Amino acid sequence: MRLLFIGDVVGSLGRQMLTDYLPKMKKKYRPQVTIANGENAASGRGITGKIYKKFLQDGVDVVTLGNHTWDNRDIFEFIDEAKKMIRPANFPEETPGKGMVFVKVNTIELAVINLQARTFMTAIDDPFKKAEELVNIARERTPFIFVDFHGETTSEKQAMGWFLDGHVSAVVGTHTHVQTNDARILPNGTAFLSDVGMTGPYDGILGMKREAVIERFITTLPQRFEVVEQGRSLLSACVIDIDEQTGKATSIVPIQISEDRPFSE
Ligand SMILES: [Fe+2]
Repeated sequence: MRLLFIGDVVGSLGRQMLTDYLPKMKKKYRPQVTIANGENAASGRGITGKIYKKFLQDGVDVVTLGNHTWDNRDIFEFIDEAKKMIRPANFPEETPGKGMVFVKVNTIELAVINLQARTFMTAIDDPFKKAEELVNIARERTPFIFVDFHGETTSEKQAMGWFLDGHVSAVVGTHTHVQTNDARILPNGTAFLSDVGMTGPYDGILGMKREAVIERFITTLPQRFEVVEQGRSLLSACVIDIDEQTGKATSIVPIQISEDRPFSE
């Protein structure tokens, strides 16, 4: 089984990259399932019902989220009906939505789990305990399990990778918007990548207009951060192959598409 995972789609430039390149990537890599993190899709903050539908139309099978899940109020209008969208499973139980979804791939089922880290982030429930709980539930149905771990630090993400090694097919990090160079298969068969990187503006700072971010660092004064809406774009993703007998990963290959790394058919 082959999975394509597309990292944090940021703003209109990110959405356009998805529309432009997902068909080409599907033709080239032939994934059976495509997952995309959409928590920054609406102007960098949250996701709307319209954008969620467009993701599905463009060929995304499952949308994952993160710390910006609630930033666009439109989410409350559609989260309960959005069957293919998950938010971090370790949000407080009272919050709407769910953190795990099962998708059918021919005769196989894939569980997709979204979790959020805690270091330098909002204090939410323990992602490790929640991971264990959900993986136990998922494994009663299937050994094919993909985890999007949305977090700030490489250490917490590595810890999750090792914690789940041999229990899930893949743990891939999101949130930092910068792709790390550490894709590997852990000894017990879990594909791991600290961060898959972002899809959106190539010349901003993590997708935001540079001037305000630099000003903030220089003066420490509050600034209004706005997403870059024009200019060059980047797409970050990874392709993961999973053995159809065991659910263990056999390969993980990071992908970037930009002017510096042009897409080849
Ligand atoms: Fe995030």
